[in-house]
Amino acid sequence: MKPTLNFIKTIAAQAGDILLALVHSDLNIQHKNRIDLVTKADHDSEQFLINAIQTAFPDHAIVAEESGSWEGAQDHQWYIDPLDGTLNYAHGVPIYCVSIGYACQGRMELGVVYDPTRGEFFCAQRGQGATLNEQPIHVSGFSELIDSMLGTGFPKGEADPVDDNIANFIRFSQQAQCVRRLGSAALAIAYVAAGRLDGFWEVEIHQWDIAAGGLIVEEAGGVVTDIHGRPDYMTKPPSILCANPVIHSQMLDVINALHNEQ
Ligand code: IPD
Ligand code: CA
Ligand code: CA
Repeated sequence: MKPTLNFIKTIAAQAGDILLALVHSDLNIQHKNRIDLVTKADHDSEQFLINAIQTAFPDHAIVAEESGSWEGAQDHQWYIDPLDGTLNYAHGVPIYCVSIGYACQGRMELGVVYDPTRGEFFCAQRGQGATLNEQPIHVSGFSELIDSMLGTGFPKGEADPVDDNIANFIRFSQQAQCVRRLGSAALAIAYVAAGRLDGFWEVEIHQWDIAAGGLIVEEAGGVVTDIHGRPDYMTKPPSILCANPVIHSQMLDVINALHNEQ
């Protein structure tokens, strides 16, 4: 059996309540590495979501950030980030979200990105368009990179990143209006869908960061690919480049030009 969008919204809202309830308490911060943190809120939110999904859909497979993969029917795959923007959360910066994506037979079908600090639900169901709090949303209409506000993010690994994003960051800072690093990839991608950001890219990212947001951008009329322009951005190792169709093509040109120079 498939979930409904309402089911996902309901559990995202409850997970968001967990995040809000814990934000001023002892976060019980643990280090995954020197700069990557995990808090009690990450664990509690994830445990809640996994219990809720397994209770309703016991045979579904789940990929979740903190606890890894839960085996299940391959036709029903969930991607969960119980708290996207942990560093912001741990520092009291109210830019974070819950991200939940559901794929049926390998195709993303449902996505919800919920920002509990603003009560904003970014949602999409394949073929039904994208919404923000029930209102239809669309990617922006800008046609020039120089008019575009872009977003990006950087990995939190200890080793040097395989593909250093700094060169892209510099180049886009020169060729776009500006580049923002919000600290929550899922939320920034949802902002592309809502036309708040005009494009977003990230080179090293995880499936749970992009599963829901990618579908929301597609349903909002945007183009979503990996960093090289390939359509299957969820294939490991995932990366993402998303924007309205015109800006997406211009961003890809910038990335390819830089790549050819290196
Ligand atoms: C991170 C955030 C960050 C992005 C990283 C992610 P987390 O997720 O989305 O903005 O740049 O790639 O890992 O660890 O806060 O869930
Ligand atoms: Ca994340
Ligand atoms: Ca997370």
